[in-house]
Amino acid sequence: EKGGYDYFMLKEIEEQPRAVADTLLGRIGDGGRLQLDEMRMSESELRSVDKVIVIAAGTAYHAGMIAKYAIEHWTRIPVEVELASEFRYRDPILTRDTLVIAISQSGETADTLMALRHAKEQHARVLAICNTNGATIPREADAVVYTHGGPEIAVASTKAFLTQLIACYLVGLYLAQVRGAKFPDEIQDILIQLAQAPEKVRETLDRMEPVKELGRLLKDAERVLFLGRHVGYPVALEGALKLKELAYVHAEGFAAGELKHGPIALVDQDLPVVVVVPPADRPLLHDKIVSNIQEIRARGARTIVIAEDGDEAVVPFADTLIRVPELPTLLQPLVATVPLQVFACALADAKGLDVDQPRNLAKSVTVE
Ligand code: F6R
Repeated sequence: EKGGYDYFMLKEIEEQPRAVADTLLGRIGDGGRLQLDEMRMSESELRSVDKVIVIAAGTAYHAGMIAKYAIEHWTRIPVEVELASEFRYRDPILTRDTLVIAISQSGETADTLMALRHAKEQHARVLAICNTNGATIPREADAVVYTHGGPEIAVASTKAFLTQLIACYLVGLYLAQVRGAKFPDEIQDILIQLAQAPEKVRETLDRMEPVKELGRLLKDAERVLFLGRHVGYPVALEGALKLKELAYVHAEGFAAGELKHGPIALVDQDLPVVVVVPPADRPLLHDKIVSNIQEIRARGARTIVIAEDGDEAVVPFADTLIRVPELPTLLQPLVATVPLQVFACALADAKGLDVDQPRNLAKSVTVE
């Protein structure tokens, strides 16, 4: 049933091009019109939305963080992202015009479900992004956009994350379409790029041999730092989470701009640092991170750099350079996350750990 792979996780990582393609399927119509009729929210309802709040846990929360960058940019609607476990115990400010997006692979996560109920009590409208047909969260939500990842067996979430990103992008683009986009040309371009995402993820997977080697090489690492900026920041958090849960390595993700505000004190020659480099379409962001890499390198740390094809500026400062195909910054997490999944899986495997069933974890956290 593992289809020839050692682990479900590896199988699910490999399934990502298909999972992404299935989640896009039938949703981008002719002439680039998005079709999300299944969402069951009228255009007038969507036009009246004046705030979006994303609630989720773990990996799904990281997808929500990325959604904030995209949805705010495309729609100019303010987006908050909050851990479901915090949101549900707060006194959040919600109105009928607040759209709450609950992201959950399983659709059964207790904190996310309770947060959803908390939002509904205050008359907010709730949209679920979910991978499991008929689960409690989509049943209780006002609307749902399903991710079509297929069953995810490994405890660590991989293909669910990529498909959650796709669903978030589709919802953001749909909101922009319904409300009249501020940058229609950019939106059209994003749709074209999004349609190519399955192919880009496939290309990324074809380059993973050196990443697996790196996992084996660093199997005795006691700590690893992950840095990113903009949408690369949640990608860094996701890379750190994967490494913690699979390999029991103390890993932390930081916004690279925060380096000087504390974390740089951690950097020494025994600390591998993974840096997610934004594409050249955001030159300012890109330059900032190149200088971060230099600062880390100057302190003797091993730099593992994830950068897009053709980015030559990072070459002199990368001890290990991992190339990903070009995509606009907002979509780059679709490819930049993949090497981090593979890295954590390979490192855990090299340590002789059970990749599919890490200690202390359950696939679906239905208790609080
Ligand atoms: C990490 C992981 C968890 C889940 C989290 C939410 O690899 O799998 O962090 O993402 O427990 O689960 P769902 O999406 O089912 O609500």
